This record gives sequence, structure tokens and C-alpha cells, in this order.
Amino acid sequence: MEGKNELNGRIQIQGSKNAALPILAACMLIPGVCKLKNCPDITDIRYMCNLLESTGAQVQITNTVIHTGIDIEVDTRTVQDYRLPGQYVSAMRSSVVLMGAMLGRIGEVSVNYPGGCVIGERPIDLHLHGLEKLGAQIWTENRHIHAYADELKGAVIDFPFPSVGATQNVVMAAVTAKGTTIIKHAAREPEVIELCKFLNQAGADIELSEAYQTQGTLVIHGVELCRLHETTYEIIPDRIVAGTYLFAALAAGGDITLEHVPIEQLDSVCDVLTSMGAQIAVNKQDREIHLNAQKRDQIVNLPYIETDVYPAFPTDLQSPLIAAACVAKKRLVIKEKIFSSRYKIVEELQRMGAKITVQKDTAIVEGGRELEGRAVIAKELRGGAALVIAGLCASGITTIADSYFIKRGYQDIAGDLSRLGARISYVDR
Ligand code: EPZ
Repeated sequence: MEGKNELNGRIQIQGSKNAALPILAACMLIPGVCKLKNCPDITDIRYMCNLLESTGAQVQITNTVIHTGIDIEVDTRTVQDYRLPGQYVSAMRSSVVLMGAMLGRIGEVSVNYPGGCVIGERPIDLHLHGLEKLGAQIWTENRHIHAYADELKGAVIDFPFPSVGATQNVVMAAVTAKGTTIIKHAAREPEVIELCKFLNQAGADIELSEAYQTQGTLVIHGVELCRLHETTYEIIPDRIVAGTYLFAALAAGGDITLEHVPIEQLDSVCDVLTSMGAQIAVNKQDREIHLNAQKRDQIVNLPYIETDVYPAFPTDLQSPLIAAACVAKKRLVIKEKIFSSRYKIVEELQRMGAKITVQKDTAIVEGGRELEGRAVIAKELRGGAALVIAGLCASGITTIADSYFIKRGYQDIAGDLSRLGARISYVDR
């Protein structure tokens, strides 16, 4: 990357990684062919397709004609194996949501403990508690988790924390359980709603009620497996990719328009950007967000922000915000309330001249810094995106090693930002 170029122009936003992954897993519940349109072409999606194929399902990938991603057809009529191979499971966290779908479909699953980013302890205790409440027997042997259920029964599950993945796992296991399941304090992220909409379209009976929207009480009425049928579903655009590019333009300056954006899911992000001095115009009709950040002296940090569950400011944009905060005026104090250590990328930003101190779950960012291009290392997905934002603002050349982390969630961050005028390209080592 060569920094100090404004971003100008318009780009389309890719399909949502965190919507597509659980919906791909949910295809395992449906004995037939499901078609998912506008999936993002990213590593984690490819891994999930490999996992599905390892159970005996057939997966066909074609380039989408609607937007910028891929269309995926999943045919699960040939599923017979319940053991998920380690090389894909350990590569990504979202593999664990296959447990609920596999239990619902064939009553058995074996995974090795899922890996994921270095963003802190990633327990799955809430997932396993929920599945056990539905009647699954779960045991571990040589770092594999086995789950078996000859019959899943509806239950009341009260989550102490609205875990996104645990909610999705329980929903998928509850779809064909006998009787009704009530999840209290379910996660209300858009990606959970999309999973439920997909399942309902395929014949499930999930109440997306007022009680769910307002207090997270999600009710699933079990249906016979034979009630589930094939369907075609379009994946929503990725709100975190959209937010990443908005912070990139805030940091680098310029005037950009994002097309095909989930406007209603970005209220907390647009509030922060506007409060920091960006001019934002939202076109709900055309699903576009326009951001102007040309008045550089008006880009000022908020004194305090904290991440929290949806619809609050998302933890996945904490690192991109920190990168932008390095160059905005004044000091930002940000508190990370979701993950136990999501500041790994700070030391790379410090090597570029950022002045950030971390105390437990809080980072203090001194704004108004001049960043210098450096050779830095992406340590995880969203931290890697933060380094790209820092590289846009830094003087000189920045190279980002281990950029495969970024490819896990961004279909083509270099292509997207190049289209907006950034000088950025992949280096083939
Ligand atoms: C999903 O992860 C997303 N991943 C994450 O995005 C996102 O940051 C997170 O939700 C929060 O919004 C996918 O959807 C694939 P959680 P998930 O369960 O389901 C603790 C990205 O960059 N917890 O809501 O793993 C956990 O340790 C990724 O795209 C338990 O203690 O998130 C964490 O501190 C990063 N026990 C907190 O809850 C459990 O059983 C939130 O986790 C489960 C979670």
C-alpha cells in the first residue's frame, strides 16, 4: 500500500460472511437442494463448503450474476457421515454451528474443538448447554466433541449472555425437535434473524415476534423433518464490510458511496461517523450510503465509545474504528465489552506511529497522529482490516503480512479500495 490518497467513488458491498455461514450450515437440515445467492467468495465460506462435502453433501459453486459474489447450491440428499474433518473445523469458529444442524438431521456429530481468531477465549459452553437441554448427549474424547441424540425435545433455554453462535446452534437443533423450544435472551443480531427467515422459508416454524425483537425471547415450534423443503435464498450484504469501508473513508478523507448496503443495520455505526464529523447521506430507496470526509479538520474523536450486542456499536468494527481514531483529532477511549482480548493489533498500529494504551478491556487512543508506512503483520481478521485503514493514512509504503486473515472475511479488500482510488495491491510471495 502507498498511503495518503483520498478515497472517492462508489463500490458494491459483498454478501454477509456472518449471515452466509450459519445459513450454509442450516442447509444440512433440509433433505434436498438449497440455493444461496450472493454469498461472499471468502476463505471461511470455502471452508464451510468443504465441511458440508465431507459429510457426503454435494456442493456446487457458480459466479453470481446479481452482485459480486458466488451462488452456492447444497444438495444434502447424500449425507451420511457425522464426523467433521479437523482441518476445516480448526480453521474457523463458525464450524461449531454445524453441530445443531447435524443433530437435527442425522442425530449425531463429531467435531474437534473449533479454532478461530486470536481475539480471546472462545468457549462454546453455551452452545453445548443449549444442545444438552434439547436432549443431546455430549462427551469429549481426544480433543473431539461428540454429540448424539436419538430424539431432540423442545425445552426452555435461558442464556446468561446473548451468544450469536449459541443461539444459532440451538435454533437449528430445535427446528425438528419434538415440541416447542423457548430461548430466553437469544441474540438479536441481523444474522440470527436471517437464519430464522431462511429456515422459515424452508418450512420451519420460528416466531420472529415482538417479544423476540424487544427482549430476545425466541420461540421455535418443532416440525417433522419431512416438512422441510428446498428453497432459494439471497444473502444480505455485509454490514461489517460496509462499516469497515466507511471508517476507511473517514480516516483517508474523500467522498464515497456504498451500494447495496443494509442501511437499517448500520444506525449505531452511522451515529458514530456523523458524531465524528463525517457528512452522511442515506438513500433507503436505493440502499446506498454516501459519506463525505473532506473537511479534515472537522474529523474529531468521540470521548468514549463501548462495543456491545446489536444494535449497539459492533465489536467487529472496534479495530477499524481504532485505526481511524489514530488520525482523527482528540482522544478516544473505547471499551470492548464482547471479547476478552480484542486489542492484539494495537502493537502493529503502534509500530506505525499510533499512540494507544490498553488497560484490560479499554483502549485509549491519542488522535491527530502522523502514521508511517511499515512492514506489519495481520493477526486476525478485523485487526488486519484495521491495518489496511492505517496504511491508507500513513506516509510511505505499508506492507501487511499474513493478509490471508483478511481474506477470511473480505472478498477483495484491495480491489474494492483500488476502485475508490487507493494505491493497494496483493503481493504474491
Ligand atoms: C459471532 O461470533 C461472529 N462470528 C463474530 O464475528 C462476532 O464478533 C460475534 O458473533 C459477536 O457479534 C460469526 O458469526 C461467524 P458470540 P460468535 O457467541 O458466535 C462468549 C468476525 O470478525 N461466549 O456472540 O462466536 C465469547 O467468548 C467474527 O466476523 C461464551 O462465553 O460470538 C465472546 O466473548 C469475530 N460461551 C462472547 O460470548 C459460548 O458458548 C460473544 O460470543 C459462546 C460465546
